[in-house]
This record gives sequence, C-alpha cells and structure tokens, in this order.
Amino acid sequence: MPFDRESLALLDEALAVLADGFRHLPDVPRTARMSELREPLLAAARRLQDNAPYHHPLYVGHMQKPPHPVARLAYTLALWLNPNNHAYDGGRASSVMEREAIGEIARMVGWTSSQGHLCSGGTLANFEALWVARELHPGKGIVASSQAHYTHERLSGVLGVSFRAIATDARGRMDPAALEDALQDGTIGTVVVTLGTTASGAVDPLERILALRARHAFRIHVDAAYGGYFTLADNLDADTRQAFNCVAQADSIAIDPHKHGLQPYGCGCVLFRDPAVRRHYRHDSPYTYLSSDDPHLGEISLECSRPGAAAVALWATQRLLPLVAGGTFAQDLAAGRMAALALHRALAADTRFAPLSPPQLDIVVWAVRADTASQASLRARALHAAAAKHDLHLSLVALPQAMLEPHDPVRAWDAETIVCLRACVMKPEHREWMSGILARLDAAARATGQESPQSR
Ligand SMILES: Cc1ncc(COP(=O)(O)O)c(C=O)c1O
Repeated sequence: MPFDRESLALLDEALAVLADGFRHLPDVPRTARMSELREPLLAAARRLQDNAPYHHPLYVGHMQKPPHPVARLAYTLALWLNPNNHAYDGGRASSVMEREAIGEIARMVGWTSSQGHLCSGGTLANFEALWVARELHPGKGIVASSQAHYTHERLSGVLGVSFRAIATDARGRMDPAALEDALQDGTIGTVVVTLGTTASGAVDPLERILALRARHAFRIHVDAAYGGYFTLADNLDADTRQAFNCVAQADSIAIDPHKHGLQPYGCGCVLFRDPAVRRHYRHDSPYTYLSSDDPHLGEISLECSRPGAAAVALWATQRLLPLVAGGTFAQDLAAGRMAALALHRALAADTRFAPLSPPQLDIVVWAVRADTASQASLRARALHAAAAKHDLHLSLVALPQAMLEPHDPVRAWDAETIVCLRACVMKPEHREWMSGILARLDAAARATGQESPQSR
C-alpha cells in the first residue's frame, strides 16, 4: 500500500467526473507546460527521500499515521478547485461536506445538536475551546494536568488567562484530589481533561472530574486530539472505557482527524456541546457572508480561510469507514491497541527494560535499566539511534521520577527525569509486524552493548 501508484488511475477517473461538471465553460489555455513541471517535481521527490518512513509499519516513533488512500485521493482531487471553507462563496459543496463530516464526529461522541468545525489541528481546536471558556468565565483561570499538551499553558498565556498545572498519579493521569485542592479558592473557570496524553497516552479520570464539577462550577474542555476516536474501540480497560463513556458530558472537545482519523495534516476538529456558543464568534465580513442566508462556517470559526480539500478528504474517508463501533475503522484502532499491548508484554518480560504500566491507548513507554537515571537516559538515546540504523524508528520522551519510580528502572536517582523510549503503535499493520519490530529492537540493544535478555 505505501506507494500505491495504481491509485493514480482512480484519481484520473474521479478528475474526469469532476471536470464533467464544468464542461459548459469555455476552454482556458494551460498555464504550465508538463515538461516544465518535471524538474522541480522530481527534485522535490528526491528531497523527500530524506525522511523517516512515517508510512511504514517499522515507523513507531511519533503520532504519525499515513492518510488513508481515499483521503489522499479525495484531498488531491479537490485541489483542482482548491475550495475555501470560510464561506459558501469559496467552497459551496465542501462546506456542506464539512458539516456532514463534523456531524458524524459529533454523533460518535454522543452529541446530536452540537456545533463544531474543522481547523488546522489540535492546537487551534484547543485554542478556540479555551477562548470560548474565557468568554464564559471571565477573570477565572485554566488548569490542566502536568502531563497535558504543552500548548495549554502557552495558549492560556496568549489569552491572558492564568494557568496552573495539576499533579498526576504515577500513570500520568490527573489526580482528582490535587484538582479538588486547587478548586478550593474558587479561581478556576476551566479544567482541561486529557483523554490520551501525548507522552504516554494516559487518560484522565473524567468521571471523577465530572463529580467535582457538580460541586464547583467549572467548564470542562476535553483534549482528545490524539485519543478521541478510541471511544469506538472495543478493547479498552475498564478505567479508560469509563472515561470515554462520559465524554458527552464535557462542554467542548478537540479531536484531530489528522492524528487517528487517517487524514493529511491540517485537519483538527473542535466541538461544543451547546450550539449557543456561536454568539461569541459573532462578527461581520463585508466581503463574504452575503451570498447565502445559511450560516457560513467562517461565522463560527476563528480562522478565515480553511482548506475545503480537508473536508472533502474527511467526508470521503468517513463514507468508506463510518465512525461506528464494530466497523472497520474501529477494528483497526483496536488492532493497533492490541499490538501496543503485545509490545508492552514483551518489554515487561525483558530484564533490560522497565516499561510503564500497560498502555491505556496505543502508546508504549519504557526506560532502559541502568545504575543511575542519567545512565538510563544515555542508554535510551543510544538505543534510539541504533534502532534507526536497523530501520526501526522510535521516539524519545523525558518523564519525571514520580512516573517511573514504581517501575524501578535505576538504583540511584541523580536526575529528576529519565529519557525513555516511546512507541506510538498506531497502525493496524503493527499487529502483524510486532515480532519483526521486537527482533530489530533486540538487535539494536545488542549493538549498543546491552546483553541478551533473561526472561523473568
Ligand atoms: C493531546 C494533544 N493535544 C494537542 C496536541 C496538538 O495538536 P497539533 O499538533 O495538531 O496542533 C497534541 C499533539 O500531539 C496532542 O497529543
């Protein structure tokens, strides 16, 4: 599948159908000659060879998942028109497709009358949610766990709102007791609940935070940029399932189709439970909103121009892979998670490694055992580099002592953090590839001088 050039024939067929709709227009001479395009295009292809193989199952580094072929083709198809989903003037069909696709994501989280739209990614989705939260709780602060995405603190600064980090438990989940302490002084207006942290895929205990909301009036924004689609998976553990089961009680949610939704980058999504939040977006545009009385997407989003192609790609993907429990999309998420659990089991049985607790979603993190914390970090960096030489691409993450101590990775703590290895096991193919991944990890560990494993 990775470089499936035969799909280009399908693109050609779809392009002919698209062109049919505009056949009545007078011909326009071509602006670029094909021969002129060749040199820069082939030069770009050669430059792009200098990349990690994000599309391949041996890439388990960051949250990078190749777009589904239908998304890639539909996106490319739309580029011949390049619609702009700011307003119906710029992207008529693609605005309707965006509304339909967004409606399906909202239904997946249990909302039937919410409001939402696509945006450039998780950062912007969170930004809009925090901006609306500030409008609704003026003068009050924002909190998120110390393992929440780094942008929450930064975005709070941009919004001029105070920010506090709430401690986590050893698994990286927000500690409800620490949150309750912070709530005592009445200065908190919004709690960001992360369903799937970036570092380790930890899922905050949403049901316990909802119980606190019943006693202290605050707004809940769920950052499910990475984890949101897991609500469809049928193999979550009980704690994780419980958190996803109450996601519909949040006030707003960020879910990124460009992480687990098989979309090219530039596709985030923000949803609000109460469609009345649209009043905060109210503004006039003398250029655009005159062509239709239907609300334009630009009237309910902070950005002006947005790629209609992103909506077309998402719409086509969801037509092929509906967001329903038990469907192919859900089964593929569950397959990645199964592969993550298999990787965790293998690491736990290997005396060289000290993995965190079993993954709540599909990210696996482990320290390399050593005498001291700084030696463990050096070993992880060496193994990361050696694995890449064996075509196995992992990522690195620095985690605090409190999250690692229960797993006993070192005898002495001469540093407050340890650099660990991290695998985002996000592709369904990872299930079949796991033994090959483990063989390469073992070869890379031996190459860095780590002796062969003794099973415990
Ligand atoms: C939980 C979470 N929130 C927000 C973001 C930011 O998303 P983006 O990179 O799409 O802006 C990320 C990115 O990894 C994330 O994992």
